Amino acid sequence: MSGMFDIVLTKKQEEIISTFFEDNSVRWILSVGGKGSAKTTASVYILLNLFFNPEYKGSKILIARESLRDLKNTLVREFKSHLTKLGIPEDKAYTHHEGLQLFRSLLTDTEIYYLSLSSRNDQYRSVLSYEFNVVIIDELDRISEEAFDEVSQRMRLKHKFNKGLLNLNPVPETHWVYKKFVANNFPQTKIIRSSTYDNYLIKKVNAKAFSLKATEYVSPQGNIYYVINNTRYEIIGKDGDYYIVKEFNVSHPFLVEMEHKHYSFRRVMLEGQWGSVNVDDGIYTPYFTERHIATDIITPKDLMLYYRLYGGFDFGVRRPAFVLIAEDEWGRYIVIDEILGENISSIQFVETIRRRLREKWKLDIQDVEIYGDIAGSFREQSDGLSIIQKIREQYGINIKTQKVKVMDSLFKIKTLLEKDIANIPALRVHQDCPMMLAGMLGEFKMDEQGKPIKDNYYEHIHDAFRYGMMGALKNNFNSNFKVYVPEY
Ligand SMILES: Nc1ncnc2c1ncn2[C@@H]1O[C@H](COP(=O)(O)OP(=O)(O)O)[C@@H](O)[C@H]1O
Ligand SMILES: [Mg+2]
Repeated sequence: MSGMFDIVLTKKQEEIISTFFEDNSVRWILSVGGKGSAKTTASVYILLNLFFNPEYKGSKILIARESLRDLKNTLVREFKSHLTKLGIPEDKAYTHHEGLQLFRSLLTDTEIYYLSLSSRNDQYRSVLSYEFNVVIIDELDRISEEAFDEVSQRMRLKHKFNKGLLNLNPVPETHWVYKKFVANNFPQTKIIRSSTYDNYLIKKVNAKAFSLKATEYVSPQGNIYYVINNTRYEIIGKDGDYYIVKEFNVSHPFLVEMEHKHYSFRRVMLEGQWGSVNVDDGIYTPYFTERHIATDIITPKDLMLYYRLYGGFDFGVRRPAFVLIAEDEWGRYIVIDEILGENISSIQFVETIRRRLREKWKLDIQDVEIYGDIAGSFREQSDGLSIIQKIREQYGINIKTQKVKVMDSLFKIKTLLEKDIANIPALRVHQDCPMMLAGMLGEFKMDEQGKPIKDNYYEHIHDAFRYGMMGALKNNFNSNFKVYVPEY
């Protein structure tokens, strides 16, 4: 297909494009990737094929983005410049009506409309009067869910070909796109994830000439690359007098700049993992690095022999939360498990915790010292009993409470993150705890006063973590640990 226009595609682009044109079970492709991972360019190639291939004749295509100006400066401009580069003559092969924001192919009658989907904009409403069989939205994460729903209901033109492509930078679990497509498994959708490092072409280069010209570069992550005229290469093989190399399509200085950013930014914008890029207001973002992600394999037997266990329990009416913290012999902590309840009472949630501890960790809930908020010991108006009392009566479990001052707990956690014990951070989060990881990397956010903000999602995991952690620290009779006050 790409041969039609003499364009060389990256592997990821091939995957996106073949899914787009060949997989009939898919209505929506969610193409999620970091900055510069070649998403927009893949869309341009798709447009070119749709526009001229007689297979798709009579198509009505919508391309959209939040802002019309951005759309004109990216997709539309690239599309047009490819037409020019390929020597396709305007007004013979196609027409461009700038006022109508429309391209029409004179060979296939296919029409491409380009529109803004900003909710503050009239064009959004004008979408309502069209029907399309193909929709391409760039930067979906910036568009409202209502706008998407509207467009989705307009992708109903009867045509033998029907497909939508949604490009976006990764979003956190709290974003509507994540909820709709990932958490709630939107039907007929295929999610294709890519990273900026996927944006390369394989080349074969003369080894001698290459070595003469190339400068070695070692990234902060320890990977070895070679650079010629700001283009980055990675040697992946040798074939006689030739090297097989990856030639990256984004510039070397751009990659260097990204690689020097904080890990929380890199993992989202460079590696394309789900998460937030707005991490400036993350409480722990400056303290939490890759070193704080534990990859140790911890078996139930290890837990029994070498660790002391603490739980943090955030009571809640709808979303109770629990985290499990293991303290090793050195007095270092690893958060090893997390549960966030959904539409479940705190009392029922105890059963969820009990089951998880038994099934995943072969632990009796009694083996874990669980801490909760002091409010859990207050009597409730309805029956004069506190949550703690009810849990004790129903399950025979004693949940401890203590008064935890918010700022005090944040300070102690930051201090732990900055401290090493025998060259390993005193506090880590296990890689199997995605909510805690996302939280530490930016989703546990603070307001201007530095207080945690209430988002009704991450805040609950954060609270559970704080209660558990403060319980563990109170109990830490290991003299290795001292909270010290840094000098300012
Ligand atoms: N197949 C390709 N061959 C050469 N360059 C490419 C290719 N795909 C993408 N690029 C280049 O890589 C850069 C980033 O691509 P782009 O599509 O803008 O990424 P994204 O939309 O994911 O941020 C652009 O400069 C683009 O021209
Ligand atoms: Mg783009």
